[in-house]
Amino acid sequence: MKLKHVLESQQFDQKLLSQIFSLADKLEKKTDQSMKGKIMASLFYEPSTRTRFSFESAMLRLGGSVITTENAREFSSAAKGETLEDSIRVINNYADIIVLRHYEKGASERAALISKVPIINAGDGTGQHPTQALLDLYTIKRELGKIVGVKIALVGDLKHGRTIRSLAYLLGKYEKVKIYFVSPLELKVGDDIKEHLDKHHIAYEEIEDLESIINKIDVLYQTRIQKERFTSEQEYKKFKGCYQIDVKLAKRMRPNAIIMHPLPRVDEILEEVDALPQAAYFKQARYGLLIRMALLKLVSRKVTD
Ligand code: CP
Repeated sequence: MKLKHVLESQQFDQKLLSQIFSLADKLEKKTDQSMKGKIMASLFYEPSTRTRFSFESAMLRLGGSVITTENAREFSSAAKGETLEDSIRVINNYADIIVLRHYEKGASERAALISKVPIINAGDGTGQHPTQALLDLYTIKRELGKIVGVKIALVGDLKHGRTIRSLAYLLGKYEKVKIYFVSPLELKVGDDIKEHLDKHHIAYEEIEDLESIINKIDVLYQTRIQKERFTSEQEYKKFKGCYQIDVKLAKRMRPNAIIMHPLPRVDEILEEVDALPQAAYFKQARYGLLIRMALLKLVSRKVTD
């Protein structure tokens, strides 16, 4: 198996997902220096802690090297007016893989059209965040031991959240999954996602009341209200804190259910929840490292099972 670019969740099928997950399992157990001599460029036009550091850590752990700009809007020649396309053409001379986070939906696809080296979409505006979705699904598999038949609540800002968009596409590849989209009416998930789920006969419900389903779900996937995507502070404040997970609410979940969050969190999961066995969000970040190691290997060369 080999990947050319990683651009969107729709490009994966169940077989490829299983292969990525088994490779991630293997990379947890053994040292692998197969990226020695390769260079990864992390080109980030939006802020990041996990995605950038975990990709960089993944590359270094695999024996490769990293060149990086963590604020490309300010510290790359984008500040002088260089187009994304020209930056990609130039970085093709310096790196074997480009990990790109951009503020515009579709930016990674634009980059892939002209790039001779693999492009990995590390989040494109309100578009997708496929590597996050891969690590989310891997977390579900690792923590619950299954994906088929899982009941999951995707909670919060479903209008702007790219992680839930990518995750919904991946969940749609598994049988008997049930998705509860839990959000205020104004922050509902996009019609494109619902159309995709309808097409693949995946059951879903849109609701506003999280408490009404709290004891029915296997996974509570909480998300941040995305302040940076609102047109005003006033508009953001209307929704800030609209779903808050505290110990009292978490304890109403099924005993084996888990709480996930792509992070960063603001106030939507209280710190008191962190000590509960259901809290899986920091493990989720750890699983991200393994998934990103697997992806770096797969875009670089053919990997046999
Ligand atoms: N989950 C996620 O994408 O986190 P960062 O924005 O810190 O990369």
